[in-house]
Amino acid sequence: MNRKKEMPANFLWGAATSAFQVEGAALEDGKKLSQMDVLNKNTGFSDASIASDSYHRYKEDIKLMKECGFTAHRFSIAWSRVFPNGTGEVNLKGIEFYDNFIDELIKNGIEPIPTIYHYDMPMALVEKYDGWVSRQSVEDFVYYAEFIIKRYKDKIKNWITINEQSIIVEFWKKKNYVPEKYHNNHQIKYQINHHMNLAHAKACQLVHKYVENGKVGAAIGYSPIYALDSSPKNMLAMLNAENLKNHFFLDIYFKGSYPVGAMKYLEEQNLAPIIEEGDMDIIKAGYSDFLGVNYYASKCVKFPSPDNNYLREAKSNLEGKKGAMGAYEMMPDFYEYIKNPNAETNDWDWTIDPSGMEYLLRDIYQRYNIPIIITENGLGAYDKLEDDETVHDDYRIDYWTKHLKSIHRAIELGVEVFGFLPWSFVDVLSTSNGYNKRYGLVYVNRGDKEIKDLRRIKKDSFYWYKKVIESNGASILN
Ligand code: BG6
Repeated sequence: MNRKKEMPANFLWGAATSAFQVEGAALEDGKKLSQMDVLNKNTGFSDASIASDSYHRYKEDIKLMKECGFTAHRFSIAWSRVFPNGTGEVNLKGIEFYDNFIDELIKNGIEPIPTIYHYDMPMALVEKYDGWVSRQSVEDFVYYAEFIIKRYKDKIKNWITINEQSIIVEFWKKKNYVPEKYHNNHQIKYQINHHMNLAHAKACQLVHKYVENGKVGAAIGYSPIYALDSSPKNMLAMLNAENLKNHFFLDIYFKGSYPVGAMKYLEEQNLAPIIEEGDMDIIKAGYSDFLGVNYYASKCVKFPSPDNNYLREAKSNLEGKKGAMGAYEMMPDFYEYIKNPNAETNDWDWTIDPSGMEYLLRDIYQRYNIPIIITENGLGAYDKLEDDETVHDDYRIDYWTKHLKSIHRAIELGVEVFGFLPWSFVDVLSTSNGYNKRYGLVYVNRGDKEIKDLRRIKKDSFYWYKKVIESNGASILN
């Protein structure tokens, strides 16, 4: 029988954003600064104070989501809008915003999928005790998360705890406000991550406790890792990197333990986190029901050569010109990231690798056997608004078409994928490149520094995606 190809029934279609990258209103209605409001002031790009102005335009935005046919939307809640001081008194105006936002989604038939934490620790807690560096952050996160989970327990079924712990470790001084005194102490990033593991596990327990049939998981920034070639040493580097960059997070979520190889290596390097008695029991008890995968690019590694073997941190490409990548990460005697000579990249040197999507889905599913939702996937690009109010982003349509085909192939081969929430709905403040690099289905009329009128313009990809959703994928899969 020749059946028409499409996504499974009840597949969730939508897109994703995060609070500080779209909301703006950074100091409005009682909100206080988050670390992202402060860190983004120093990037040389636009900051988060206005962003895409979604705080004021959310109704218009949700109308567009509905027009496109969304059945789900991933967004994040700004901790510093709800608890401006991190803990204590709730900010009624702040929580009212999320009440209204969530109700508006539901009214329009769109399932709200919130991320509880997307990089934006309240600055008050950074000032009080250095934020995630301190173990106190776990307790305060739980205070905030419990409030949110209890408030929306009857309205929200699928919950995302923390966004991209993997990227938070890799870019630990950019995704966290880390005081300078720690800047040469690389153990701190694994300590921060350990605190987040506890916070994640406790939030999972809270969802299981309060939300009837609730499901919960983290969204991980995930890259499949390929060896440069089949030389035995480079294959070993691939295993090392998979262990420290991927299993290091997923083993916590789904096995309740750190992978032994990566942990022994960190101990040898004096980088291992301090784990207190009882921590691993908390982590085990806070099991995840699913995994959110943020996939943009695959990575390529080789074994470090003896004359070039040291701890080197990644530095993003800030210029937006191919080849201007600052630096690739290296861990001594373990692996060195390099450019993949067999794959193309975007202007910021991010590899474009659609088959990597199938690879990672099948790999993760075979290893952990859990349902997966794509919580981010997208192409950062320079978009041009034409005089006739159109944006021809055919490169993005091509990118998503190929990635969706890969997802479908993985599903055909048995992987449980229950939704696609690409990055991003409207253009957002990019975490590394301001508004120069765009991701949205909907163009936001602003420059990086010039605010303009912030009006929304549907890109070609919006119309393309509407057809994809209407046909449950059949428009591109046949
Ligand atoms: C993910 C983040 O890492 O990638 C998003 O969850 C981010 O917040 C996205 O915007 C794209 O990265 P960038 O640096 O281009 O904004």
